[in-house]
Amino acid sequence: TIVILDYGSQYSQLIARRVREARVYCELLPWNVAPETVDRLNPVGIILSGGPSSVYDAHAPTLPSHVLERGVPVLGICYGMQLLAHNLGGRVEAAQQREYGPAELTTIRTDSPLFRGLSAPMKVWMSHGDKITALPPGFEALASTPNTPYAAMGDEKRRIYGLQFHPEVAHTPRGRAIIENFLYEICGCTGDWTPGNFIEESVQRIRAQVGDGRVICALSGGVDSTVAAMLVARAVGEQLTCVFVDHGLLRLNEAEQVMAMLRHHLPARVIKVDAQTRFLAALEGVTDPEEKRRIIGHEFVRVFEETARQLGSFQFLAQGTLYPDVIESAGVGGSAAKIKTHHNVGGLPEDMQFELVEPLRWLFKDEVREVGIALGLPPEVVYRQPFPGPGLAVRILGPVTTEALHTLQLADAIVREEVESAGLNRDVWQYFAVLTPLKTVGVQGDYRTYGNVVAIRAVTSEDGMTADWARLPYGVLERMSTRIVNEVPGVNRVVYDITSKPPGTIEWE
Ligand code: XMP
Repeated sequence: TIVILDYGSQYSQLIARRVREARVYCELLPWNVAPETVDRLNPVGIILSGGPSSVYDAHAPTLPSHVLERGVPVLGICYGMQLLAHNLGGRVEAAQQREYGPAELTTIRTDSPLFRGLSAPMKVWMSHGDKITALPPGFEALASTPNTPYAAMGDEKRRIYGLQFHPEVAHTPRGRAIIENFLYEICGCTGDWTPGNFIEESVQRIRAQVGDGRVICALSGGVDSTVAAMLVARAVGEQLTCVFVDHGLLRLNEAEQVMAMLRHHLPARVIKVDAQTRFLAALEGVTDPEEKRRIIGHEFVRVFEETARQLGSFQFLAQGTLYPDVIESAGVGGSAAKIKTHHNVGGLPEDMQFELVEPLRWLFKDEVREVGIALGLPPEVVYRQPFPGPGLAVRILGPVTTEALHTLQLADAIVREEVESAGLNRDVWQYFAVLTPLKTVGVQGDYRTYGNVVAIRAVTSEDGMTADWARLPYGVLERMSTRIVNEVPGVNRVVYDITSKPPGTIEWE
C-alpha cells in the first residue's frame, strides 16, 4: 500500500488515480490522520500532496513526525516538497512571482531512479507560490528549469524525494513515468493490484466488520449497488438481504430484467417491492420537477423503511458509495459516510440506525466495472448507461400518468434499440427519450393527427458534469423517428435535442 497524505491540493485525487493506474493500491488520507491508521496500512511508501498553504502561514499544515520515522520512501509534491525542505534544514522562500503553468525541465539527473528512462527537455506543470532556495543537507538537485534550480530534489540514501512540479496532471506528459519510477524503482511495488486482489481483501474486510450481524441493501440494478451487494454476499452470504423497490418509473421491462439478472448473479435473498401504485398516487397532478424528486425520494425512504422493519432487524446498511463521492463530500475521511447516507437513503427515522458497509468506497468507477467483470457480471450490466434515481418521472414533462409512462417506455425502448444495434452504446454516455406535453398537428394515412412531441436526448460525456450532444448518424436518427411515429400511439413528431451541458442539463427536469 502507498499512503498519500492530502494537504488540500485540487490534484490530490489525481495522484490517487495515477497510483491506482500503476496497479498499486493506495489510500488518500488527511495529512493529520492518526498515525495508527497509517500503521494499519503498513505503507511501503508515502506521497505528500501539494496544497494551497505556505510553510510560513500561521496555521499551515505540518509534516507529522511519523512520516520520516517509518524509514519508507517519501515523495513530496509541490507543498509536500517544501514541507520536506523546511523540516530537514533547507530554505523555502516566497517567490517574487507565483509560477503557474507550463515549464520545461532543462536538466535531469537520469542516474536517479526517480528519473530512470527519462530525458531532458521535459514539459512539466508548475503551480506554486513559494520555492526552495537552499537544499537540506544530504539532498541533491535532480532536475531544474531556467527559473527553478531545484525543480526536483532527492536524498538517495534516505530515499526522500521532492518535486516542485505536478507529475499527476495531464500537462506533465511524462509524469506517469515519474510516479511509476517512484512506485516500482524506489518503493519496490510490483504493480500487481488487480480486481481479483481487491475482491479477496474486500471480502475479508466485510467479514471483519459485519461479524454475525445482518445486512440490508437497497438495489437499483445499476452497477454500483449490484457490485457492492455481490461483495457483501460473498463475504457473509445468508446474512444479506437485498431490497429492490420497483417504483414503476423504470424503463420498458426493466424491473423484470433487473430481477432476472440479480437472481442469476447475486447469491443472496432479493426482495422485490411492487410500489408502482403508491408512487403514482403520490405523484398525481405534480408538475414541478423539484417537487417530483422530493416526493420520489420521500416515498422511497418510506417504502424501504417499512420493508426493512417487516424483515426483522438489521445492524448494517450496504451501499455502493464510490471513492469520488467519499472524497468530494468530506475532503477524505471525516464525516463522509454520514453525508452519503443522507443522499442515498437519507431521512431514515431516528430509531433506524445502521452502520454503513461501503465496500466500494476505495474505488473509482472504472475499477468498479473491472471488479464487476471479475465477479462475473455481464458487460450489459457493467457498462449500463446511468439512469437517474427518480427514473422516467423526470423525463415526462408535466404530470406522470400510467399512460404517459407507457408512451415514454415504448419510445425510449426504440431509442435504445437503435443506438445499440448501430453499435454506438459505448461511445454515447446516455441516450433516451423525453415525453413532452406539447401537441402538434400531423398527417398519417390521409388523416389529420394531433399528438405529442417526443424528444431524443443523446450525449457524450466523461463524467456527467459536462456533456455535448452526440453526433448520431442521420440514418440512426431517421430510423428512430420513423419507428417512434409508427409504433408509439399518440406520438406524431420527433425532435433531436442539440443542447450541450452547460447551459442545458442532461435530463430535461
Ligand atoms: P443532469 O440532468 O443534472 O444529470 O445533467 C447529470 C447526470 O446525473 C443523472 N441524474 C441523476 N442521478 N438521481 C440520480 O441518481 C437523480 O436525481 C439524478 N438526476 C440526474 C443524469 O441521468 C445524468 O447522468
